[in-house]
Amino acid sequence: MPTRRFLGRGMMAVAAAEKKRSGKTEIKETLLTPRFYTTDFDEMEQLFNTEINGNPNQAEFKTDYNQTHFVRNPELKEAADRMRGPLRKKTNPVVAEIFFLMSRDEARHAGFLNKGLSDFNLAFDLGLGSLTKARKYTFFKPKFIFYATYLSEKIGYWRYITIYRHLKANPGFEVYPVFKYFENWCQDENRHGGFFSALLKAQSQFLSDWKAKLWSQFFCLSVYVTMYLNDCQRTAFYEGIGLNTKEFDIHVINEINRTTARIFPAVLDVENPEFKRKLDRMVEINQKLIAIGESQDLPLVKNMKRIPLIAALVSELVAAYLMPPVESGSVDFADFEPRLGVLIL
Ligand SMILES: [Fe+2]
Repeated sequence: MPTRRFLGRGMMAVAAAEKKRSGKTEIKETLLTPRFYTTDFDEMEQLFNTEINGNPNQAEFKTDYNQTHFVRNPELKEAADRMRGPLRKKTNPVVAEIFFLMSRDEARHAGFLNKGLSDFNLAFDLGLGSLTKARKYTFFKPKFIFYATYLSEKIGYWRYITIYRHLKANPGFEVYPVFKYFENWCQDENRHGGFFSALLKAQSQFLSDWKAKLWSQFFCLSVYVTMYLNDCQRTAFYEGIGLNTKEFDIHVINEINRTTARIFPAVLDVENPEFKRKLDRMVEINQKLIAIGESQDLPLVKNMKRIPLIAALVSELVAAYLMPPVESGSVDFADFEPRLGVLIL
């Protein structure tokens, strides 16, 4: 008997009926909706068992004949420019083109990273769980996308440029040459951030009123805390390339905040030592939460232990959010004009 289920098109009706019975919202499926398949892995294990099958010839795959084949040349772009009519139908050509260009950069980065991972015999986690999760869409108003994407692009810029500059000054820590690519890579992120900055400036209502100030602070806090907590869980990487994780993060947070202050109407007072103390307390709480998750306790006991810690984390977050902000922003500044230093003097 197969131990895992194979879900193909024939099974879709059954799966839909199961979902309806379980009361979950049904995903609207069309013929073009990508489907996810799983199979009988025990049988696959047998089929690829070298004792039964001999050694399957993997040399053909490993040679990677097309490693340097997929290089774009002008012919493709020229052919696309010549294409007219229904083949090129778009709802809004400007938006479509900009997002196409951004996704070109992001796909190139992801593809490059994936190639790098293959040098370590690793690949992005494209397991069924993460793929099916990616299909659930959460509604986000455009202005929230603008704030959040602006911040994440600028974070990308400051993280990559900081690592690049550090390794340029300390080449002994350059354990893998992918970091040499970070200088141009971060300029892509900077351009993406610049685009969202322009979008926000064009919609000054997103930058001018009291709601904009509260949202700006909220998104700054979410992004900074997420980065700090995540990185403090992966200190081995940062220390492996000669960085102190917390110092690196604080430097990046300060720089992003200064950049963001050129456009957001209010930013957090991250250079106030109390802000860092709060971040460090959140790291301690988060470490305790992780330890509970990894313990052998019963699920109910784990949840009981989590309650006071989650309450403590929320109270640190609220306290950080309520710290007096730094008034900032202008829709008139050039993209790289320093500003925060003047504002806090
Ligand atoms: Fe980007």
